[in-house]
Amino acid sequence: MCLFAPSTNPRRVSLEVMTTSPTPSKLTIKTAFITGGSKGIGFFTAKALIERGVNVTLTARNAAEVEAAAAELNALGHGTALGLAVDVRDYAALEGAITQTVDTFGGLDFLFANAGVGIFKPVHELSLEDWAAVIDTNLTGVFYSVKAAVPHLERSSGYIITLSSLAGKNPFALASAYNASKFGLNGFSEAIMLDLRPKGIRVSTIMPGSVSTHFAGHTPSESDAWKIQSEDIAQIVIDLLEMNPRTLPSRVEVRPSQPKKG
Ligand SMILES: NC(=O)c1ccc[n+]([C@@H]2O[C@H](COP(=O)([O-])OP(=O)(O)OC[C@H]3O[C@@H](n4cnc5c(N)ncnc54)[C@H](OP(=O)(O)O)[C@@H]3O)[C@@H](O)[C@H]2O)c1
Repeated sequence: MCLFAPSTNPRRVSLEVMTTSPTPSKLTIKTAFITGGSKGIGFFTAKALIERGVNVTLTARNAAEVEAAAAELNALGHGTALGLAVDVRDYAALEGAITQTVDTFGGLDFLFANAGVGIFKPVHELSLEDWAAVIDTNLTGVFYSVKAAVPHLERSSGYIITLSSLAGKNPFALASAYNASKFGLNGFSEAIMLDLRPKGIRVSTIMPGSVSTHFAGHTPSESDAWKIQSEDIAQIVIDLLEMNPRTLPSRVEVRPSQPKKG
């Protein structure tokens, strides 16, 4: 059955339809851990996995929002969602959440290192706190996520996907901290792909252009129809996970096919 039922929660508004029946899938993974799963790309990727019967831990800083997101996903009735309030800048909390995931679901097959923030100001107006918030979340937070997950992913021959950006290859004004974090994340992602491939862990990074989400205080609306939708990034994640394991698309660039006019 297919209903037009955008989330009642405006934080997760979607321009797409919501499905209520399980989605046939070639996925072999059983358990996923998603940072930044309460809204936007992380939420819709969690939803795509849950619809395919995968158990998913989603994390975010705001406890009420991440618990509400997990409840919404559990109502779909396929895989199970566990919502945990975890800041990716807190290594001990992240490690504890991954241990809790393994204890609850029996293992870990997939890390989606997605959490990120954007602060856009000229460099001379960036505070020390602004700089640290962006670098510590978008770059160090991914390292922390990977470090905590790798021992478990080694056991499952698992998969890591990092969420970078086209801002990881294209500098633009007001984006010095964000550009630095995503340029760094591209290098990090490719280096760990080379480190972990011999251990049987695959690593890909996705580099989107504009996606309709709550990123940097934006509110998604109908005027975002020209942008990539979160469901489209979720589809790329599913496609990567379904790829024959002999082949590794290590970097995926994705952009709106029709850029905004005017
Ligand atoms: N939207 C775009 O146009 C676009 C384009 C390219 C790349 N990206 C990247 O896509 C990723 C996801 O962003 P989005 O667009 O989906 O934005 P979003 O709608 O704002 O979602 C961001 C998610 O990350 C969480 N988060 C932020 N800081 C966190 C922290 N320190 N610890 C744990 N969770 C944290 C947020 O929850 P809390 O606030 O509760 O922590 C939220 O769940 C980011 O890495 C972003 O850089 C976005």
